[in-house]
Amino acid sequence: MKTIMYLAMTLNGKIADGKGSIGFFSDNEWNLFQKEMRKWGNIMMGRRAFEVSLKAEVFPYHGLNIVMTKEKIKNRWGESVIFFGGSPAEALRLLDDRGFEIAYIGGGGMLNYSFLKEGLIDEIMVDVEPTVIGVGVGLLAEEEIRSKLKLIDVKKISEDEVRLRYSVIR
Ligand SMILES: NC(=O)c1ccc[n+]([C@@H]2O[C@H](COP(=O)([O-])OP(=O)(O)OC[C@H]3O[C@@H](n4cnc5c(N)ncnc54)[C@H](OP(=O)(O)O)[C@@H]3O)[C@@H](O)[C@H]2O)c1
Repeated sequence: MKTIMYLAMTLNGKIADGKGSIGFFSDNEWNLFQKEMRKWGNIMMGRRAFEVSLKAEVFPYHGLNIVMTKEKIKNRWGESVIFFGGSPAEALRLLDDRGFEIAYIGGGGMLNYSFLKEGLIDEIMVDVEPTVIGVGVGLLAEEEIRSKLKLIDVKKISEDEVRLRYSVIR
């Protein structure tokens, strides 16, 4: 199983503004995100990303939604949603056991950091939105971490947006 971290970010690496909003997503980006979701059939997210998605009335996404949290949250969505308090490696095992070929790590920054830190990310794919935001949430939580990457592909996905794909060198 391959693990892909996929997010949309501003040119300066923010995945949400200071209020946690992802209002900078273009319609094109929403469509591309949903296309990947349908293909991959799963998404892993942090508790805060879950809360933002819930508030925006876009939760749950297509397929299996795993929300990483140590909190006890009542599941009112049934089998398509799992609130999981185990480790990142255990969360991936859960997907592997179900036969998924891709594990989709969908943010936010804390979740991304916790998987990257454990050496569990194979590929990072980012769609760069034509925006810069001063205060906001970074692609990775502000923790001590450095990973070397190798460029796989650069693709123009609209007039103003590019998709960058990097593999993580281990
Ligand atoms: N641009 C994009 O593509 C995109 C995608 C997703 C999210 N976002 C944005 O990202 C923001 C949220 O990011 P964030 O960094 O603040 O928070 P986050 O990573 O979404 O959530 C953090 C919380 O998730 C849980 N968590 C994370 N890693 C965990 C682990 N390894 N094990 C167990 N629990 C874990 C913890 O919850 P508990 O405290 O409950 O234990 C932690 O407090 C939102 O504003 C959202 O809009 C943007």
